[in-house]
Amino acid sequence: MTASVPMPHNRRPARCPFRPDAGLERLREDPELPRVPTSNPQLGEFEAVLVTRFEEVRQVLSDARYEAGFAFDRTGPRTVMNQPGILLNYDGAEHTHYRRMLSGAFTVKRVRSLAPAILRVVDERLDALEQAGPGADLIERFAGPVPLLVICELLGIPAEDRDGVQRRSAVGTDVANSLQTQLKNFAAMAAYMGDLIRRQRADPGDDILGDLVRRHGDELSDDELIGMGNSILVAGHETVSSMIGLSTLALLRDPEQLAIVRDDEDAASGAVEELLRLLSVAPPLVRQASTDLQLGGRPVKAGERVLLSTLAAHHGTGAVPDEPGRLDVRRRPVAHLAFGYGAHQCIGQQLARLELQIALPALLRRLPGLRIAVDFDDVEYRDDALVFGVTRLPVTW
Ligand code: HEM
Repeated sequence: MTASVPMPHNRRPARCPFRPDAGLERLREDPELPRVPTSNPQLGEFEAVLVTRFEEVRQVLSDARYEAGFAFDRTGPRTVMNQPGILLNYDGAEHTHYRRMLSGAFTVKRVRSLAPAILRVVDERLDALEQAGPGADLIERFAGPVPLLVICELLGIPAEDRDGVQRRSAVGTDVANSLQTQLKNFAAMAAYMGDLIRRQRADPGDDILGDLVRRHGDELSDDELIGMGNSILVAGHETVSSMIGLSTLALLRDPEQLAIVRDDEDAASGAVEELLRLLSVAPPLVRQASTDLQLGGRPVKAGERVLLSTLAAHHGTGAVPDEPGRLDVRRRPVAHLAFGYGAHQCIGQQLARLELQIALPALLRRLPGLRIAVDFDDVEYRDDALVFGVTRLPVTW
C-alpha cells in the first residue's frame, strides 16, 4: 500500500487541524509497514517507512540502531539545519559531546528560575494585545512574541535586535521559500549569531550562550556555537508559538474545556500535556536504519529512512485508550511523544511546558470573554511550515 505523505503537512483535514486526516488514520490500521513517497527541504524527495502506531514509534526512538535521519554535510550549502552543533544531526559519542554541554542550561532548577521572566513577558504581551483592541491577531501580538522574547532573554539577545531575529527565524522555517532565499537568510542568521558570540566571548553574560562560552568556549569553535545558538533559537521559538496559537483555538472551540483551564489553577499542567498530545505540532521525526531490523515482526532494511508520525500515534488507542480524538484536559495519565523519546528527546521540554502553563491560563484570565473574531472555517493554517500552526487568529473579547 502506498500513499503520498508530504512531510511538513503531517496530513490534517483542511478545516480541522486537531486530528490526522482519514488517510493517515487508515495507514495506522494497516498491518503492513507502508512505504510512502515524501519530501523534506534537507533530504529532497525520498521513500520512507511510515510508522504511525504509538508503541512502534517509541520503539524506533529508543533503539540506537535507528540513527539520526539527518547528518551535517560539511560540503553542502549551510542552512538552518545544515550547520555544525545542531544536535539532531549527530549520533552516539558526537551527539553526547554536544548535548551534555547544552543540557546544563536546561535543568529543571534553571528553567524554574525563569518563571518570573516568563510571567513578565506574558503580562507585557497581554497589555499589548489589549491595547491593539478587539480584532487583534493573537499570533502577531501574543503567541509569536512570547516564546521569542523568552528565548531572546535566554540567549542574551538585546531588545532592539528582536524584530530582525523573528523575521529571519520565520523565513528559515518556512519550507515554501526557495533555496536561494534560504541561503541568503541563513547567511544573515549566521552573521548575527556570530556577532553575538564574539560579544559573549569578550564579556560572557548570565544566559545560556554566556554559560556555554564560559564553560566550553575553548572546546567549541565559533561555527559550532553559532549552530547551537541558532538551533535553540529556531527550535525553541516556532514550536512554542505554534502550541500557544493552536491550543487557544482548540480551547475556544470547546468552552467547557476552556473554563477548566481558566478557572482551575491546578489544571494547567495536565491540560498542557493533553494539548501537546492532541495537537502534535512537530513534523514527523526522521531516522535511518543502520542495519537490517524488524519492527513489529516486519522487516526494515539497512539504509531505509523511517518517518515517525507522532500525530497519527497520538490519535490511536496506543497513546490513550479512551477516545484519543477528544480534548480532555483532565485526562490522566496522558502518554505522549510530543517531545520525542530516547537520546534526542527535546532538550527544551521543561521550558516549553513552563511557558505554556503560564501563558494559556494568563490569557484566558486576562480576557475572560475571549472569542474568535472570524468564522472557524476561515482560519488559515501554516501547513507549509516545518512546525504546524495557525497563520492568523483574529480574536475579540
Ligand atoms: C512545545 C514546544 C516544543 C516541541 C513540541 C518540541 C518538540 C521536539 C521534538 C519532537 C524533538 C525530537 C526530535 C527528534 O527526535 O527527531 C525535539 C528536539 C529538540 N528540541 Fe524541542 N520542542 C519544543 C520546544 C523546544 C524548546 C523551547 C527548545 C529550546 C529552547 C527546544 C530545543 C530542542 C533541541 C535542541 C532538540 C534536539 C535534541 C537532540 O537532538 O538531542 N525545543 N523537540
